[in-house]
Amino acid sequence: MPGTLAVAEAARHAGLRRIICAEESAPEAALAGIQPVPVADLGEACAYLRGRVEARRVQKPERRARVADGLDLVDVRGQERARRALELAAAGRHALLLAGPPGTGKTMLARRLPGLLAPPDEAEAIEVTRIHSIAGLLQHHAGLISSPPFRSPHHSATLAALVGGGPGPRPGEVSLAHRGVLLLDELPEFARHALEGLRQPLEDGTVTVSRAAAHATFPARVLLIATMNLCPCGARGDTRLECSCTPAAISGYANRVSRALLDRFDLVVTMPRGSGAELAAPAGESTAAVALRVAGAQPILQASCEQVSGAAAAMLDQAVDRLPLSARGRARTLRVAATAAALAGVDVVAPEHVAEALSYRAPADFNAA
Ligand SMILES: Nc1ncnc2c1ncn2[C@@H]1O[C@H](COP(=O)(O)OP(=O)(O)O)[C@@H](O)[C@H]1O
Ligand SMILES: [Mg+2]
Repeated sequence: MPGTLAVAEAARHAGLRRIICAEESAPEAALAGIQPVPVADLGEACAYLRGRVEARRVQKPERRARVADGLDLVDVRGQERARRALELAAAGRHALLLAGPPGTGKTMLARRLPGLLAPPDEAEAIEVTRIHSIAGLLQHHAGLISSPPFRSPHHSATLAALVGGGPGPRPGEVSLAHRGVLLLDELPEFARHALEGLRQPLEDGTVTVSRAAAHATFPARVLLIATMNLCPCGARGDTRLECSCTPAAISGYANRVSRALLDRFDLVVTMPRGSGAELAAPAGESTAAVALRVAGAQPILQASCEQVSGAAAAMLDQAVDRLPLSARGRARTLRVAATAAALAGVDVVAPEHVAEALSYRAPADFNAA
């Protein structure tokens, strides 16, 4: 029964102590701190209401162990800059766009982002489980979801599938990825209006779905990561291949991602095709090692009392004058700089942190041929 957790929570808030529910949903109802009365069919429900049978006991499910996805950063060779961007993205929850020719490891890296995030705490886990329950995605007898969600919708996904809709209405991918990672692989292949529809939820962290029958507001705080080639044939950016795309095809491709959407990415990395030597290089750092640094940065970021050195502030002001850096862009650059500082274990943002943050801004001509 989809949504059992939400119904059980509402029942508890209304002062009810017990809830009759399907057997398979009873552990989920128990998560709400209410006593479930599991029944196999209506006959059993009637028997219970007439006092002929006792309610069966239901254990509140154990918190499930984090599900290992088997993906480790140790498998990624080279691509140091993209690896660093992934670390910054995980530590500060900055949106990241990986661009470059096919086969450079964009998808591979993106899939390794959830492994760098801390698991949701108890309250967050309830919230995530509630959303997945409403969408009918919880397995029978499932406990709390205890890994950060990872959603990777196909680029043919409709606007409703991404932001929510349909009967119910149902939460979309942006809500199913709440407190986890939303990967938009091959970003320009998504329908442009679907991407534009994502902009507001990404900005607000919530999405309101209106249907004739009902409104529903779902949380949508996701860590966004996206990948793209630099042209339709994919050869652009690869020094060893000749791109066969016409200038019109290239600009048409890049234009599918609006400047406004591009602005939502705090970190943009163009990945080169790795050299043979790089791919034969020894393995890089493991997910566990990077996750440790990401976790170490959290206390500094949460204290959010970081100061900005005079030189760092001056560098930012200069950037505003020289680059097409909006007020939003300036604030976001500062946030990335603060993350870089926190990863270095300091709470004063220095020029080197601002310089690094600026180096990840999308170039002005990024989505123009
Ligand atoms: N930097 C890399 N290190 C190790 N393997 C790589 C790397 N880049 C690509 N590969 C290999 O190539 C395959 C395709 O990479 P993928 O991430 O799908 O490329 P992209 O998404 O950039 O087109 C991967 O599954 C992996 O086996
Ligand atoms: Mg790919």
